[in-house]
Amino acid sequence: MSYQLLKGKRGIIFGALDPNSIAWKVAERAHAEGAKFTLSNAPIALRMGKINELAAACGNAEVIGADATSLEDLEQLYTRSMEVLGGKIDFILHSIGMSPNVRKGIHYTDTNYDNFHKSLDISALSFHRVMQTALKMDVLTEGASVLALSYIAAQRVFPDYNDMADAKALLESIARSFGYHLGKANKVRVNTISQSPTRTTAGTGVKGFDAFYEYADKLSPLGNASAESCADYCIVMFSDLTRMVTMQNLFHDGGFSYTGISQDLIDEMQKFNA
Ligand SMILES: NC(=O)c1ccc[n+]([C@@H]2O[C@H](COP(=O)([O-])OP(=O)(O)OC[C@H]3O[C@@H](n4cnc5c(N)ncnc54)[C@H](O)[C@@H]3O)[C@@H](O)[C@H]2O)c1
Repeated sequence: MSYQLLKGKRGIIFGALDPNSIAWKVAERAHAEGAKFTLSNAPIALRMGKINELAAACGNAEVIGADATSLEDLEQLYTRSMEVLGGKIDFILHSIGMSPNVRKGIHYTDTNYDNFHKSLDISALSFHRVMQTALKMDVLTEGASVLALSYIAAQRVFPDYNDMADAKALLESIARSFGYHLGKANKVRVNTISQSPTRTTAGTGVKGFDAFYEYADKLSPLGNASAESCADYCIVMFSDLTRMVTMQNLFHDGGFSYTGISQDLIDEMQKFNA
């Protein structure tokens, strides 16, 4: 069902790799809600992924390669996006995460610091770059909405989430700090959505993913939030219905973050002890 919540809005969506990607679902939903947008991903992901299929399904959205750690790439992305969309940008989704330490299975206590820097640079500082470049180039409309995706490992320990936990803590902090400045400059909103475990390329790359997916699903009174429902939440955050929400980390997790124990998990443990 479409409410045309984004009718007439122009956006940039980073991070759609394949149909499992959260950004992919956001793009489909944003298109259905009447937005026009460009799609961006790292040049290597454009070669490996299926983004052109998504672009075709979204009214032939233009695909623009940009490594989110490169200021030059971001400048070109903004210039081209404003050109093809015909004006300033109303919403940005940062749906980007990567940790070489996670990929290579290097334990947190034995970290490789070059990798650690890359995790922070790609997964968190890129969000700062996205906003800093947008501010310098005066890309955002008054009241625009900027979102990034986070995970509760920023607040609580999930040992195998590795250095991505530190990257998410930094990402959420950058959302608050930059949110202040963009709010003052142009009433721009900046928030992070802290999403349930979701079966995507980045998600399933984390060791033990299946176990904590199941655990979260059993603990959360509503169960895990799907990528589709995350997309719904992103649309509301891009819309004019949330113009006074900023600098928040918004849990979108079926109640996981506030639940201590659930009957489902008690039953599981009792089965185990019987
Ligand atoms: N899947 C989960 O369980 C889950 C839970 C909470 C939050 N998140 C977050 O959601 C976001 C999207 O991840 P996803 O789960 O959809 O997985 P995904 O693998 O589909 O998306 C990650 C994206 O990051 C892009 N990327 C990596 N390096 C980049 C760079 N240098 N420049 C530009 N783009 C780059 C990848 O190409 C990919 O498109 C990430 O921030 C992730 O941490 C995921």
